[in-house]
Amino acid sequence: RQNERESLYIILNFAKNFYVQQLHESDEGQAVGLSYFKERGFTGEIRKKFELGYSLDTWDAFSKVALEKGYSSQLLEKAGLLIHKEGSQTAGYDRFRGRVIFPIHNVAGKVIAFGARILKSDKSKAANQPKYLNSPETEVYHKSDVLYGIFQAKNAIRQLDHCYLVEGYTDVISLNQGGIENVVASSGTSLTVEQIRLIGRFTPNVTILYDGDIAGIKAALRGLDLVLEEGLNVSIVLFPDGDDPDSYVRKVGAEAFKAYLKNNSKDFITFKTEMLLQDAGNDPFRLAAVIGEVVNSIVKIPDAIKRQVFFHRTSEMMKVDEQMLITEGNKLLRKLH
Ligand code: UTP
Ligand code: MN
Ligand code: MN
Ligand code: MN
Ligand code: MN
Repeated sequence: RQNERESLYIILNFAKNFYVQQLHESDEGQAVGLSYFKERGFTGEIRKKFELGYSLDTWDAFSKVALEKGYSSQLLEKAGLLIHKEGSQTAGYDRFRGRVIFPIHNVAGKVIAFGARILKSDKSKAANQPKYLNSPETEVYHKSDVLYGIFQAKNAIRQLDHCYLVEGYTDVISLNQGGIENVVASSGTSLTVEQIRLIGRFTPNVTILYDGDIAGIKAALRGLDLVLEEGLNVSIVLFPDGDDPDSYVRKVGAEAFKAYLKNNSKDFITFKTEMLLQDAGNDPFRLAAVIGEVVNSIVKIPDAIKRQVFFHRTSEMMKVDEQMLITEGNKLLRKLH
C-alpha cells in the first residue's frame, strides 16, 4: 500500500513535469496552451507557482513517453492517466488530450491529480465534452478531501489568519495574480467536512466567494451548517450575477476587488436570514419556517457566546422576541446533545 502510493506520487510528478515541458517547449503547447494562459492574464511567475501545463492533442503523447521510461501501463491506469478499455489489445490512451493542465497538490505539495480544461468554447468540440476533465478517484486522490491551492496558500492563510474559499481553479489563480494568496477552491463541489477541517488546520476565519449565480448561492447555503458545526467563523461575498472572482478581479482590478470584498462581506447567518426573509415575503407560515431554519443554523455553532450574539441579531432582523428564539434553540440543543 505505502509502496503503491509512493509509485503513484512518482508517476504523477513525472506527468506534471511532462505537461509543464509540453506547454513551454512544444510548438502546439506554445501556440495553443501558452497563448490561452496569456490571454487569461496568467504570468510566467504564476504559471510556475501553480505548475500549469499542457497535454498534446494526440492519443498517446504522454503514455508513450511514460511507457518508454519503464512505467507500467497498470501504474498509469491506477494514476488515472491512462484509459484502458476492457479486452482491448492496446495499452490504452491518454486521459488528458488537447487541454491545459492544472495540477492538484496535496497539503505537502505532492501532485495527486489533475484538472484539465478544454480550450475552445467552439460548440462542435465542446458539445459532448466537459469543460473540465478531472482525474478519477485514486489511491492518492479523494476529491472530497482536497482543496485546490492549499499547498500554495497555507502559509498566507496562517499568517493572515484568514482564508478565501472560491469555486474554481482559475479563481484561485487570478486572485493570486492580484496579490491575494490566502485562497483555495472547493472545485465546484459542495463543501465537505474534510475540506472544512483542512481549512481549520490553518485558520478559523473563512470568507466564501462564490459565483454570482443561483447555483453558486445555493451551493454556499448548503455548506453553511457544516462550516458552523466545525466552529469556523464564516462570511460570504456575492458577486454581480454572471461574474465569478476571476472575471470580477480582471474587470475591476486588484485594488477595487479588495475594496469590494471589504464592503460586501456579510457573516453567513445574517446572509442566510436575509435570503430566507426575502423569499418568504409576508406569508406568516413561511416566516415561521424561516425562524425555524435560522434557529436550526445558530444551534450548530459550538460557542455559546457566539450563539447569543446571533440570537440577538436575527431576532431584530426577523422582528421576533429574542427570548423565544433562545427557548426554541435550547430545545434543539438538548436534542443534539
Ligand atoms: P465553473 O464552471 O465556475 O468554471 O466551475 P471556472 O472555474 O469559472 O472556469 P473558467 O473560468 O470557465 O475557466 C467551477 C469549478 O468546478 C469544477 C472545476 O473545478 C471548476 O474550476 N468543474 C466545472 C469541473 O470539475 N468540471 C466541469 O465541467 C466544470
Ligand atoms: Mn477519504
Ligand atoms: Mn458556476
Ligand atoms: Mn466560475
Ligand atoms: Mn471562471
